[in-house]
Amino acid sequence: MVNVVGLGYIGLPTSLMLAAHGIEVVGTDVNIDIVKKLRNKEITFKEEGLEELLDRAIDKGIVFSDEYQVVDYYIVAVPTPYDSLTKRVDTVYLKQAVESVVKVCNNDATIIVESTVSPGTIDRVVRPIVESSHKKCNIVHAPERILPGNMVYELQNNSRTIGADSEKVAKRVKKIYESFCKGEIVITDIRTAEMTKVVENTYRDINIAFANELAKICRYDDMDVYEIIKIANRHPRVNILSPGPGVGGHCISVDPWFLVGDYPKFSQLISTARHINDSMPIYVIDRIKEIMDKNNIDSFSDVGLYGLTYKPNVDDTRESPTIQLLNQLDEKDRDEIKKYDPMIEKKMYKNQLNNLQDFVDSVKLVVIMVDHSEILNSEKLLNDKIILDTKNVIKNLPTYKL
Ligand SMILES: NC(=O)c1ccc[n+]([C@@H]2O[C@H](COP(=O)([O-])OP(=O)(O)OC[C@H]3O[C@@H](n4cnc5c(N)ncnc54)[C@H](O)[C@@H]3O)[C@@H](O)[C@H]2O)c1
Repeated sequence: MVNVVGLGYIGLPTSLMLAAHGIEVVGTDVNIDIVKKLRNKEITFKEEGLEELLDRAIDKGIVFSDEYQVVDYYIVAVPTPYDSLTKRVDTVYLKQAVESVVKVCNNDATIIVESTVSPGTIDRVVRPIVESSHKKCNIVHAPERILPGNMVYELQNNSRTIGADSEKVAKRVKKIYESFCKGEIVITDIRTAEMTKVVENTYRDINIAFANELAKICRYDDMDVYEIIKIANRHPRVNILSPGPGVGGHCISVDPWFLVGDYPKFSQLISTARHINDSMPIYVIDRIKEIMDKNNIDSFSDVGLYGLTYKPNVDDTRESPTIQLLNQLDEKDRDEIKKYDPMIEKKMYKNQLNNLQDFVDSVKLVVIMVDHSEILNSEKLLNDKIILDTKNVIKNLPTYKL
Protein backbone atom coordinates (compact mmCIF):
# COMPACT_ATOMS: atom_id res chain seq x y z
CA MET A 1 0.00 0.00 0.00
CA VAL A 2 1.15 3.56 -0.76
CA ASN A 3 0.32 6.64 1.31
CA VAL A 4 0.56 9.76 -0.87
CA VAL A 5 1.18 12.77 1.38
CA GLY A 6 -0.01 16.09 -0.09
CA LEU A 7 -2.89 16.01 -2.58
CA GLY A 8 -2.17 19.13 -4.62
CA TYR A 9 -1.30 19.57 -8.30
CA ILE A 10 1.27 16.74 -8.10
CA GLY A 11 0.10 14.45 -5.30
CA LEU A 12 -3.52 14.15 -6.43
CA PRO A 13 -2.95 13.00 -10.05
CA THR A 14 -0.13 10.72 -8.86
CA SER A 15 -2.30 9.06 -6.21
CA LEU A 16 -5.19 8.64 -8.66
CA MET A 17 -2.94 7.22 -11.34
CA LEU A 18 -1.46 4.65 -8.93
CA ALA A 19 -4.90 3.64 -7.67
CA ALA A 20 -6.36 3.44 -11.17
CA HIS A 21 -3.55 1.00 -12.03
CA GLY A 22 -4.26 -1.38 -9.18
CA ILE A 23 -2.00 -0.09 -6.40
CA GLU A 24 -3.69 0.23 -2.99
CA VAL A 25 -3.54 3.95 -2.18
CA VAL A 26 -4.48 6.28 0.65
CA GLY A 27 -4.14 9.97 -0.14
CA THR A 28 -3.47 12.19 2.87
CA ASP A 29 -3.70 15.97 3.07
CA VAL A 30 -3.63 18.31 6.07
CA ASN A 31 -6.25 20.45 4.32
CA ILE A 32 -9.51 18.83 5.41
CA ASP A 33 -11.50 20.72 2.75
CA ILE A 34 -9.49 18.96 0.03
CA VAL A 35 -10.09 15.59 1.69
CA LYS A 36 -13.83 16.25 2.04
CA LYS A 37 -14.18 17.32 -1.60
CA LEU A 38 -12.34 14.26 -2.87
CA ARG A 39 -14.44 11.98 -0.67
CA ASN A 40 -17.45 13.63 -2.32
CA LYS A 41 -15.97 12.63 -5.69
CA GLU A 42 -15.22 16.25 -6.62
CA ILE A 43 -11.92 17.26 -8.20
CA THR A 44 -10.06 20.10 -6.47
CA PHE A 45 -8.58 21.79 -9.54
CA LYS A 46 -9.30 21.84 -13.26
CA GLU A 47 -7.16 19.49 -15.31
CA GLU A 48 -7.90 17.61 -18.52
CA GLY A 49 -8.85 13.99 -17.73
CA LEU A 50 -8.64 14.38 -13.94
CA GLU A 51 -12.34 13.82 -13.30
CA GLU A 52 -12.34 10.51 -15.19
CA LEU A 53 -9.17 9.49 -13.39
CA LEU A 54 -10.80 10.24 -10.02
CA ASP A 55 -13.77 8.04 -10.96
CA ARG A 56 -11.45 5.20 -11.96
CA ALA A 57 -9.41 5.54 -8.77
CA ILE A 58 -12.54 5.58 -6.59
CA ASP A 59 -13.81 2.45 -8.37
CA LYS A 60 -10.51 0.78 -7.47
CA GLY A 61 -10.90 1.76 -3.81
CA ILE A 62 -8.67 4.82 -3.25
CA VAL A 63 -9.19 6.33 0.22
CA PHE A 64 -8.73 10.01 1.19
CA SER A 65 -7.78 10.96 4.71
CA ASP A 66 -6.30 13.71 6.85
CA GLU A 67 -4.29 11.09 8.74
CA TYR A 68 -0.95 9.51 7.92
CA GLN A 69 -1.18 5.76 7.37
CA VAL A 70 0.87 2.83 8.67
CA VAL A 71 2.26 1.50 5.37
CA ASP A 72 5.51 0.50 3.64
CA TYR A 73 5.65 3.25 0.99
CA TYR A 74 5.06 6.99 1.23
CA ILE A 75 5.12 9.47 -1.63
CA VAL A 76 5.60 13.01 -0.32
CA ALA A 77 4.40 15.80 -2.63
CA VAL A 78 4.18 18.87 -0.40
CA PRO A 79 5.11 22.44 -1.41
CA THR A 80 8.75 23.55 -1.47
CA PRO A 81 8.76 27.34 -1.95
CA TYR A 82 11.89 29.47 -1.65
CA ASP A 83 12.78 31.84 1.14
CA SER A 84 12.44 35.28 -0.44
CA LEU A 85 15.35 36.63 1.61
CA THR A 86 17.98 33.87 1.32
CA LYS A 87 16.62 32.40 -1.96
CA ARG A 88 17.24 28.94 -0.49
CA VAL A 89 14.65 26.18 -0.58
CA ASP A 90 12.11 26.54 2.24
CA THR A 91 11.70 23.05 3.70
CA VAL A 92 9.14 23.79 6.38
CA TYR A 93 6.35 21.72 4.75
CA LEU A 94 8.72 18.91 3.82
CA LYS A 95 10.04 18.69 7.39
CA GLN A 96 6.53 18.60 8.86
CA ALA A 97 5.43 15.93 6.41
CA VAL A 98 8.45 13.66 6.98
CA GLU A 99 8.25 14.13 10.76
CA SER A 100 4.61 13.06 10.64
CA VAL A 101 5.41 10.06 8.43
CA VAL A 102 8.25 8.70 10.59
CA LYS A 103 6.01 8.82 13.66
CA VAL A 104 3.66 6.22 12.18
CA CYS A 105 5.50 4.35 9.43
CA ASN A 106 6.63 0.73 9.49
CA ASN A 107 10.22 0.22 10.61
CA ASP A 108 11.64 -0.40 7.13
CA ALA A 109 9.29 1.81 5.13
CA THR A 110 10.41 3.69 2.02
CA ILE A 111 9.83 7.45 1.94
CA ILE A 112 9.78 8.75 -1.63
CA VAL A 113 10.13 12.53 -1.83
CA GLU A 114 8.61 13.88 -5.05
CA SER A 115 8.78 17.54 -3.98
CA THR A 116 11.44 19.52 -5.82
CA VAL A 117 14.45 20.28 -3.61
CA SER A 118 17.93 21.69 -4.10
CA PRO A 119 20.91 19.29 -4.10
CA GLY A 120 21.80 18.17 -0.60
CA THR A 121 18.36 18.88 0.91
CA ILE A 122 17.52 15.21 1.42
CA ASP A 123 20.79 14.68 3.32
CA ARG A 124 20.48 17.95 5.23
CA VAL A 125 16.78 17.87 6.10
CA VAL A 126 15.12 14.51 5.50
CA ARG A 127 17.86 12.06 6.56
CA PRO A 128 18.36 13.55 10.05
CA ILE A 129 14.61 13.29 10.74
CA VAL A 130 14.61 9.64 9.67
CA GLU A 131 17.78 8.87 11.64
CA SER A 132 16.52 10.47 14.82
CA SER A 133 13.37 8.34 14.60
CA HIS A 134 15.59 5.23 14.97
CA LYS A 135 13.62 3.55 12.17
CA LYS A 136 15.41 1.91 9.28
CA CYS A 137 13.53 3.74 6.54
CA ASN A 138 14.82 4.03 3.00
CA ILE A 139 14.82 7.47 1.47
CA VAL A 140 14.23 8.01 -2.25
CA HIS A 141 13.98 11.18 -4.33
CA ALA A 142 11.72 10.87 -7.37
CA PRO A 143 11.15 14.43 -8.66
CA GLU A 144 8.12 15.10 -10.85
CA ARG A 145 8.20 16.68 -14.31
CA ILE A 146 4.57 16.81 -15.39
CA LEU A 147 3.15 19.89 -17.07
CA PRO A 148 -0.13 21.32 -15.77
CA GLY A 149 -2.66 21.17 -18.59
CA ASN A 150 -1.23 17.86 -19.81
CA MET A 151 -0.67 16.05 -16.52
CA VAL A 152 -2.58 12.85 -17.12
CA TYR A 153 -0.79 12.17 -20.42
CA GLU A 154 2.63 13.18 -19.11
CA LEU A 155 2.37 11.08 -15.94
CA GLN A 156 2.09 8.03 -18.17
CA ASN A 157 4.52 9.00 -20.89
CA ASN A 158 7.31 11.17 -19.44
CA SER A 159 10.66 9.74 -18.50
CA ARG A 160 11.22 9.74 -14.70
CA THR A 161 14.23 9.86 -12.41
CA ILE A 162 14.64 7.81 -9.25
CA GLY A 163 17.44 8.75 -6.88
CA ALA A 164 18.17 6.23 -4.14
CA ASP A 165 20.96 5.05 -1.83
CA SER A 166 20.97 1.58 -3.39
CA GLU A 167 19.95 -0.03 -6.64
CA LYS A 168 17.84 -2.56 -4.73
CA VAL A 169 15.64 0.13 -3.20
CA ALA A 170 15.49 2.08 -6.47
CA LYS A 171 14.31 -1.02 -8.35
CA ARG A 172 11.52 -1.63 -5.85
CA VAL A 173 10.32 1.95 -6.23
CA LYS A 174 10.68 1.73 -10.02
CA LYS A 175 8.19 -1.18 -9.97
CA ILE A 176 5.59 1.04 -8.30
CA TYR A 177 5.95 3.79 -10.93
CA GLU A 178 6.00 1.20 -13.72
CA SER A 179 2.41 0.36 -12.78
CA PHE A 180 1.39 3.40 -14.86
CA CYS A 181 4.52 4.99 -16.36
CA LYS A 182 5.44 3.92 -19.89
CA GLY A 183 8.38 6.35 -20.11
CA GLU A 184 11.99 5.41 -19.35
CA ILE A 185 12.73 5.35 -15.61
CA VAL A 186 16.34 6.27 -14.89
CA ILE A 187 17.98 5.18 -11.65
CA THR A 188 20.65 7.35 -10.06
CA ASP A 189 21.80 8.62 -6.67
CA ILE A 190 19.80 11.09 -4.60
CA ARG A 191 21.96 14.20 -5.12
CA THR A 192 22.02 13.70 -8.88
CA ALA A 193 18.23 13.37 -8.91
CA GLU A 194 17.87 16.53 -6.82
CA MET A 195 20.21 18.54 -9.04
CA THR A 196 18.78 17.22 -12.30
CA LYS A 197 15.27 18.44 -11.49
CA VAL A 198 16.45 21.93 -10.54
CA VAL A 199 18.70 22.10 -13.61
CA GLU A 200 15.80 21.25 -15.94
CA ASN A 201 13.72 24.17 -14.72
CA THR A 202 16.71 26.50 -14.64
CA TYR A 203 17.48 25.66 -18.27
CA ARG A 204 13.95 26.69 -19.21
CA ASP A 205 14.15 29.90 -17.19
CA ILE A 206 17.44 30.97 -18.80
CA ASN A 207 16.14 30.32 -22.30
CA ILE A 208 12.96 32.30 -21.65
CA ALA A 209 15.06 35.14 -20.21
CA PHE A 210 17.09 35.26 -23.43
CA ALA A 211 13.91 35.66 -25.49
CA ASN A 212 12.64 38.34 -23.11
CA GLU A 213 15.92 40.25 -23.30
CA LEU A 214 15.76 40.13 -27.10
CA ALA A 215 12.20 41.53 -26.93
CA LYS A 216 13.46 44.51 -24.92
CA ILE A 217 16.41 45.16 -27.26
CA CYS A 218 14.18 44.94 -30.32
CA ARG A 219 11.53 47.22 -28.83
CA TYR A 220 14.20 49.79 -27.92
CA ASP A 221 15.60 49.88 -31.46
CA ASP A 222 12.38 49.29 -33.38
CA MET A 223 12.97 45.75 -34.65
CA ASP A 224 10.43 42.92 -34.87
CA VAL A 225 11.57 40.35 -32.32
CA TYR A 226 9.12 37.71 -33.54
CA GLU A 227 10.30 37.94 -37.14
CA ILE A 228 13.92 37.84 -35.97
CA ILE A 229 13.34 34.76 -33.79
CA LYS A 230 11.43 33.06 -36.62
CA ILE A 231 14.30 33.58 -39.04
CA ALA A 232 17.05 32.78 -36.51
CA ASN A 233 15.29 29.51 -35.67
CA ARG A 234 15.75 28.40 -39.29
CA HIS A 235 19.38 27.82 -38.27
CA PRO A 236 19.62 24.07 -37.61
CA ARG A 237 21.14 24.53 -34.14
CA VAL A 238 19.16 27.55 -32.92
CA ASN A 239 15.86 27.25 -31.05
CA ILE A 240 14.96 30.55 -29.39
CA LEU A 241 11.81 30.50 -27.26
CA SER A 242 9.03 33.11 -27.38
CA PRO A 243 9.16 36.23 -25.22
CA GLY A 244 6.28 36.82 -22.84
CA PRO A 245 4.94 38.90 -19.94
CA GLY A 246 6.95 37.01 -17.32
CA VAL A 247 7.38 33.57 -15.80
CA GLY A 248 5.03 32.12 -13.21
CA GLY A 249 4.02 28.81 -11.72
CA HIS A 250 5.42 26.73 -8.95
CA CYS A 251 8.51 25.46 -10.79
CA ILE A 252 10.36 27.62 -13.33
CA SER A 253 9.98 30.85 -11.37
CA VAL A 254 10.99 29.18 -8.09
CA ASP A 255 13.54 26.38 -8.56
CA PRO A 256 16.39 28.45 -10.13
CA TRP A 257 16.45 30.51 -6.93
CA PHE A 258 17.49 27.34 -5.04
CA LEU A 259 20.77 27.33 -7.00
CA VAL A 260 21.24 31.08 -6.52
CA GLY A 261 20.64 30.65 -2.77
CA ASP A 262 23.01 27.68 -2.39
CA TYR A 263 25.73 28.68 -4.88
CA PRO A 264 25.69 32.50 -5.07
CA LYS A 265 29.32 32.65 -6.24
CA PHE A 266 28.69 30.47 -9.30
CA SER A 267 25.18 31.37 -10.37
CA GLN A 268 25.41 34.81 -12.00
CA LEU A 269 23.78 33.69 -15.25
CA ILE A 270 20.95 31.96 -13.38
CA SER A 271 20.42 34.96 -11.11
CA THR A 272 20.41 37.42 -14.02
CA ALA A 273 17.91 35.27 -15.92
CA ARG A 274 15.61 35.24 -12.89
CA HIS A 275 15.83 39.02 -12.62
CA ILE A 276 15.14 39.49 -16.35
CA ASN A 277 12.04 37.29 -16.17
CA ASP A 278 10.89 38.97 -12.97
CA SER A 279 11.25 42.37 -14.67
CA MET A 280 8.81 41.51 -17.45
CA PRO A 281 5.53 42.41 -15.64
CA ILE A 282 6.96 45.90 -14.96
CA TYR A 283 8.01 46.10 -18.59
CA VAL A 284 4.40 45.28 -19.56
CA ILE A 285 3.15 48.08 -17.29
CA ASP A 286 5.49 50.49 -19.12
CA ARG A 287 4.14 49.27 -22.48
CA ILE A 288 0.55 49.70 -21.23
CA LYS A 289 1.31 53.28 -20.17
CA GLU A 290 2.96 54.08 -23.55
CA ILE A 291 -0.06 52.70 -25.40
CA MET A 292 -2.48 54.57 -23.12
CA ASP A 293 -0.59 57.82 -23.87
CA LYS A 294 -0.62 57.21 -27.62
CA ASN A 295 -4.36 56.55 -27.58
CA ASN A 296 -5.40 59.24 -25.09
CA ILE A 297 -6.53 56.73 -22.50
CA ASP A 298 -6.07 58.36 -19.13
CA SER A 299 -7.60 55.88 -16.71
CA PHE A 300 -6.73 52.30 -15.86
CA SER A 301 -10.47 51.63 -15.71
CA ASP A 302 -10.36 51.60 -19.55
CA VAL A 303 -7.71 48.87 -19.53
CA GLY A 304 -8.38 45.14 -19.12
CA LEU A 305 -5.99 42.30 -18.33
CA TYR A 306 -7.00 39.05 -20.04
CA GLY A 307 -5.75 36.10 -17.98
CA LEU A 308 -4.82 35.66 -14.33
CA THR A 309 -3.24 32.21 -14.48
CA TYR A 310 0.43 31.56 -15.14
CA LYS A 311 -0.19 29.54 -18.30
CA PRO A 312 -3.02 28.79 -20.72
CA ASN A 313 -5.96 26.52 -19.92
CA VAL A 314 -5.11 25.83 -16.26
CA ASP A 315 -6.60 27.37 -13.11
CA ASP A 316 -3.27 27.81 -11.29
CA THR A 317 -2.48 31.46 -10.51
CA ARG A 318 0.63 30.89 -8.39
CA GLU A 319 3.36 33.45 -9.15
CA SER A 320 1.49 34.38 -12.33
CA PRO A 321 2.84 37.33 -14.38
CA THR A 322 -0.58 39.04 -14.17
CA ILE A 323 -0.51 38.85 -10.38
CA GLN A 324 3.10 40.06 -10.36
CA LEU A 325 1.98 42.96 -12.59
CA LEU A 326 -0.99 43.82 -10.36
CA ASN A 327 1.30 43.81 -7.32
CA GLN A 328 3.44 46.48 -8.99
CA LEU A 329 0.53 48.89 -9.54
CA ASP A 330 -0.51 51.36 -6.87
CA GLU A 331 -3.75 50.47 -5.09
CA LYS A 332 -5.99 52.80 -7.11
CA ASP A 333 -4.77 51.54 -10.50
CA ARG A 334 -4.83 47.93 -9.28
CA ASP A 335 -8.46 48.31 -8.20
CA GLU A 336 -9.50 50.14 -11.37
CA ILE A 337 -7.90 47.98 -14.05
CA LYS A 338 -10.34 45.32 -15.29
CA LYS A 339 -9.42 41.66 -14.96
CA TYR A 340 -10.87 38.53 -16.46
CA ASP A 341 -9.92 34.86 -16.68
CA PRO A 342 -12.24 32.13 -17.96
CA MET A 343 -10.52 29.54 -15.75
CA ILE A 344 -10.95 31.48 -12.49
CA GLU A 345 -14.41 31.56 -10.96
CA LYS A 346 -13.45 32.82 -7.52
CA LYS A 347 -13.29 36.59 -7.09
CA MET A 348 -9.69 37.59 -6.45
CA TYR A 349 -9.83 41.33 -7.24
CA LYS A 350 -12.08 44.34 -7.50
CA ASN A 351 -13.25 44.86 -11.08
CA GLN A 352 -12.74 41.21 -11.96
CA LEU A 353 -15.41 40.31 -14.51
CA ASN A 354 -16.76 36.85 -15.11
CA ASN A 355 -17.87 37.05 -18.70
CA LEU A 356 -15.68 37.69 -21.74
CA GLN A 357 -18.19 39.89 -23.57
CA ASP A 358 -18.77 42.09 -20.48
CA PHE A 359 -15.03 42.34 -19.95
CA VAL A 360 -14.34 43.40 -23.54
CA ASP A 361 -17.26 45.86 -23.52
CA SER A 362 -15.95 47.53 -20.38
CA VAL A 363 -12.52 48.56 -21.73
CA LYS A 364 -10.75 50.34 -24.60
CA LEU A 365 -7.42 48.52 -24.28
CA VAL A 366 -7.22 44.73 -23.85
CA VAL A 367 -3.90 43.30 -22.67
CA ILE A 368 -3.51 39.62 -23.55
CA MET A 369 -1.50 38.16 -20.66
CA VAL A 370 -2.45 34.49 -21.11
CA ASP A 371 -3.24 32.64 -24.35
CA HIS A 372 -6.23 30.60 -23.13
CA SER A 373 -7.97 28.75 -26.01
CA GLU A 374 -11.06 30.85 -25.27
CA ILE A 375 -9.51 34.06 -26.58
CA LEU A 376 -7.86 32.32 -29.54
CA ASN A 377 -11.34 31.15 -30.55
CA SER A 378 -13.02 34.52 -29.89
CA GLU A 379 -10.59 36.91 -31.56
CA LYS A 380 -13.47 38.61 -33.37
CA LEU A 381 -14.83 39.97 -30.09
CA LEU A 382 -11.77 42.22 -29.92
CA ASN A 383 -12.51 43.75 -33.30
CA ASP A 384 -12.75 47.43 -32.35
CA LYS A 385 -10.38 47.25 -29.35
CA ILE A 386 -6.86 48.46 -28.90
CA ILE A 387 -4.85 45.30 -28.12
CA LEU A 388 -1.51 44.73 -26.43
CA ASP A 389 -0.71 41.11 -27.25
CA THR A 390 2.12 40.03 -24.93
CA LYS A 391 1.87 36.44 -26.20
CA ASN A 392 1.84 37.18 -29.94
CA VAL A 393 -1.24 35.03 -30.49
CA ILE A 394 -3.78 37.38 -32.10
CA LYS A 395 -3.60 36.56 -35.79
CA ASN A 396 -6.11 38.72 -37.67
CA LEU A 397 -6.29 42.04 -35.85
CA PRO A 398 -3.78 44.88 -35.49
CA THR A 399 -2.01 44.69 -32.14
CA TYR A 400 0.73 46.27 -30.13
CA LYS A 401 3.38 43.77 -29.06
CA LEU A 402 5.85 43.54 -26.18
N1 LIG B 1 2.70 22.10 -9.76
C1 LIG B 1 3.58 21.68 -10.65
O1 LIG B 1 3.41 21.88 -11.85
C2 LIG B 1 4.82 20.91 -10.24
C3 LIG B 1 5.56 20.22 -11.22
C4 LIG B 1 6.66 19.48 -10.83
C5 LIG B 1 7.04 19.47 -9.48
N2 LIG B 1 6.34 20.17 -8.56
C6 LIG B 1 6.75 20.11 -7.15
O2 LIG B 1 5.87 19.24 -6.45
C7 LIG B 1 5.74 19.68 -5.10
C8 LIG B 1 4.27 19.87 -4.78
O3 LIG B 1 3.76 20.92 -5.60
P1 LIG B 1 2.21 21.11 -5.86
O4 LIG B 1 2.11 22.04 -7.01
O5 LIG B 1 1.53 19.79 -5.91
O6 LIG B 1 1.79 21.86 -4.49
P2 LIG B 1 0.31 22.15 -3.98
O7 LIG B 1 0.40 23.34 -3.10
O8 LIG B 1 -0.64 22.12 -5.12
O9 LIG B 1 -0.03 20.86 -3.08
C9 LIG B 1 0.60 20.54 -1.92
C10 LIG B 1 -0.41 19.89 -0.96
O10 LIG B 1 0.32 19.44 0.17
C11 LIG B 1 -0.52 19.64 1.32
N3 LIG B 1 0.33 19.59 2.48
C12 LIG B 1 1.19 20.55 2.95
N4 LIG B 1 1.83 20.09 4.04
C13 LIG B 1 1.37 18.84 4.28
C14 LIG B 1 1.64 17.86 5.25
N5 LIG B 1 2.53 18.08 6.24
N6 LIG B 1 0.99 16.67 5.20
C15 LIG B 1 0.06 16.46 4.23
N7 LIG B 1 -0.23 17.34 3.27
C16 LIG B 1 0.41 18.51 3.29
C17 LIG B 1 -1.20 20.96 1.05
O11 LIG B 1 -2.36 21.11 1.81
C18 LIG B 1 -1.48 20.87 -0.45
O12 LIG B 1 -2.75 20.35 -0.73
C19 LIG B 1 6.55 20.96 -4.98
O13 LIG B 1 7.83 20.63 -4.49
C20 LIG B 1 6.68 21.42 -6.42
O14 LIG B 1 7.84 22.19 -6.62
C21 LIG B 1 5.21 20.87 -8.90
